[in-house]
Amino acid sequence: MRNLLILFPVMLLMALTTSVTAQDQPLRELADARDIYIGAAAQSGLLEGDYADVLSREFNLLTTEWETKMCVTHPTATTYDFTGTDKLVEFAEEHQMVVRGHTLLWHECFPDWLASDDYTRDEAIDIMREYIHTVVERYKGRIAIWDVVNEAITDNGLFRSTPWYRMIGEDYIELAFRFAHEADPDVLLFYNDYGAEVLNRKSDRIYKLVSDMLENEVPIDGVGLQMHLQVGDVGDRLPINRQAVTENINRLGDLGLQVHITELDLKHPGKADESVLEQQAQNYRDVVEICLSAEPCTAIIVWGVTDRYSWIKDFDNNPDAAPLLFDEDYQPKPAYTAVQQALAEFTTDDQS
Ligand code: XIL
Repeated sequence: MRNLLILFPVMLLMALTTSVTAQDQPLRELADARDIYIGAAAQSGLLEGDYADVLSREFNLLTTEWETKMCVTHPTATTYDFTGTDKLVEFAEEHQMVVRGHTLLWHECFPDWLASDDYTRDEAIDIMREYIHTVVERYKGRIAIWDVVNEAITDNGLFRSTPWYRMIGEDYIELAFRFAHEADPDVLLFYNDYGAEVLNRKSDRIYKLVSDMLENEVPIDGVGLQMHLQVGDVGDRLPINRQAVTENINRLGDLGLQVHITELDLKHPGKADESVLEQQAQNYRDVVEICLSAEPCTAIIVWGVTDRYSWIKDFDNNPDAAPLLFDEDYQPKPAYTAVQQALAEFTTDDQS
């Protein structure tokens, strides 16, 4: 009895502490418990101090933000450069993070030496095969997921006229997936694009593209929805309509594919005051809830660790865009707390 009397307060204290720490748990612990990935895009030149601490503490997946694109890895016809990717992969391994390789083919990072289009179809296919084999084989067993092709469809639902498309034709996409699979049969292969979150011409075309690929037995495992959004975009009646995104994810899931939210950020056009930051938090919560409520969605990846180094600052020429979960000084923003709470607490019963 005396033992019980002593134990009771101890147990009460333990119960209280557990419920308090649930709120304070790093995102990756909460995501692990749900068996999903929470990731961030990262750059090798920043892997120290607060940046390294936050990245490794909060995320169980790392996407290579810039350094695994072709214009970096294959800068001349006869050379490869894996310095940046190697550092990122080593960091991820040290911190038990899964790596998403981004990205094998993207028109925005196409090496100059190939840019003349002065190659026959067969020559271009040989170059692509050699390139994809070299990169994917190098990271076999270390990079678990590849964005094989990035942004190949236009907003109007047409094939984008990329150099690969011009040199090879429409089947360059399926060839790229086949080459990646040859190089590492265990790696997961994704098609990735922006502006295809809801049901629209672009997402319909992507749906057709991946359906055709599956029919032709092309090895594809998933589709990445980038989700570069603006604060205020997400909601029941807004451009990023929750219901429509969910339907889109589920129709891809019905094909047997996974969906990753690959490049999430929520920018703001001016300088964000408190109410903007609250709205941003709500939108982050919305996106996490969309993913948690749609079974095919297995990863949520933010496009950067801190507002300090977000790509949007340059892209929009707006130093105040503040689109991420941590501020310039690595302090968690309301958006961070919203993601943490959603990961800790959301159940599908919450949905109206
Ligand atoms: C961006 C990186 O964040 C920048 O650092 C780089 O200068 C340009 O590329 N869609 C994509 C990403 O698929 O690869 C882009 O990343 C952002 C838009």
